Amino acid sequence: MINRTVVAILSLALVPASALTQDSASAAAERPVTSGVYSAAQAERGLGVYRTSCESCHAKSEYTGDKFRVAWVSRTVYDIFDVIRSQMPEDNPGSLERQEYIDVVAYIFSLNAYPTGTGDLPTEDDGLKKLRIDNPPGGTGSSSSHAGRRRPHPRVAFRK
Ligand code: HEC
Repeated sequence: MINRTVVAILSLALVPASALTQDSASAAAERPVTSGVYSAAQAERGLGVYRTSCESCHAKSEYTGDKFRVAWVSRTVYDIFDVIRSQMPEDNPGSLERQEYIDVVAYIFSLNAYPTGTGDLPTEDDGLKKLRIDNPPGGTGSSSSHAGRRRPHPRVAFRK
């Protein structure tokens, strides 16, 4: 009986997770950041934004590794853009051009070794919301975001 319950809870916990990635923006319309969603030129522009507007408070290392993964993996590109745009630079939030905020996101992706593609990130909210931040390449030793993350941390499924 207990086993049945556990299995039932497990299925409840796991199904929505996969349903979410498939349904929320229709599977075909959603792209992972590892598929190459920004260009090298855009990351270069973002580096300029970082130097001018972020570096005085943030070392590059703050944007990578566990800090990056815990905060952003499984969220959308819109989410990271929106947090930065509305809260940064901390001493003058929202003071940069929209394009500068998008470019600095591309720079943060480059720091995390996401591959570049041929085009820039979309400029509209809708386009940014369709891009899903999956695990950075080489991050935890697995390039497959879902299978790789679920197994080492099974207890996450029981927290909700
Ligand atoms: C004047 C100092 C300052 C500048 C300039 C600044 N930041 Fe920040 N930033 C902070 C502080 C302080 C925090 C921590 C805020 C907190 O955790 O509540 C922070 C937090 C962040 C976070 C984490 C937010 C979160 O909720 O996880 C990101 C990402 C970030 N900054 C990006 C940037 C970017 C990109 C720029 C340049 C466009 C920038 N910051 C410029 C001070 C600054």
